[in-house]
Amino acid sequence: MAEQKTVTFIITRQDGPESSSYQETFHVPYRKNMNVISGLMEIRKNPVNANGEKTTPVQWDMNCLEEVCGACSMVINGTPRQSCAALVDELEHPIRLEPMSTFPVVRDLLIDRERMFDALKQVKAWIPIDGTHDLGPGPRMPEKKRQWAYELSKCMTCGVCLEACPNVNDKSNFIGPAAISQARLFNSHPTGEMNKSERLEGLMEEGGLQGCGNAQNCVQVCPKGIPLTTSIAAMNRAATVQSFKNFFGSDNAH
Ligand code: SF4
Ligand code: FES
Repeated sequence: MAEQKTVTFIITRQDGPESSSYQETFHVPYRKNMNVISGLMEIRKNPVNANGEKTTPVQWDMNCLEEVCGACSMVINGTPRQSCAALVDELEHPIRLEPMSTFPVVRDLLIDRERMFDALKQVKAWIPIDGTHDLGPGPRMPEKKRQWAYELSKCMTCGVCLEACPNVNDKSNFIGPAAISQARLFNSHPTGEMNKSERLEGLMEEGGLQGCGNAQNCVQVCPKGIPLTTSIAAMNRAATVQSFKNFFGSDNAH
């Protein structure tokens, strides 16, 4: 009988947030068209390492399995990306999996992306609605603008742009490019622009725009092709205008 082909994964593991990390190797049965997540699922089904020792199942995060939710991001062979979209046939072997280093590790490859959601709160990346009665349809966006806004709206808070940015680290509270681009998206919305100045104020706070060192790594790694550096430049211009308005005391900052 022909020997079963296997795929080797070398996984950086960590038992808890405060534990130190270690590497564990696994051989999993190869299947055609498998992705990194299906390899991890094999390990979960049968958590035995390459030395034949029983171990704990590897933990990771996932949801949509179609590169839309961003939850499954990890560093695969040195590159931060979505594990659901990483096909085993297209990767170098052995496959090395590590958690993204910008975020606290919860366990193994499972990280806590809370700093990204805090960043969205800082810049108020939403459109407030009062929720008490039906306000009817909002203003329409011209089709060309809608298509442009759709590109920005594809952000899945995956964290890959933060992982690639040298200015997002333990020593800085820079919110990162994703939230800046989301502020631009909501400031361009016909209803969202009513709260434009509040978002700009959030961007001018500590950790906001001034944290960007113009490394431009973010725009190269974003899996959704979001024009992050253009968004940062646009928000820098808008923040300058806003600071003039604040200085001259204009209450017509919208
Ligand atoms: S901007 Fe791109 S890389 Fe950054 S969180 Fe959004 S989808 Fe991910
Ligand atoms: S599971 Fe949602 S992006 Fe991979």
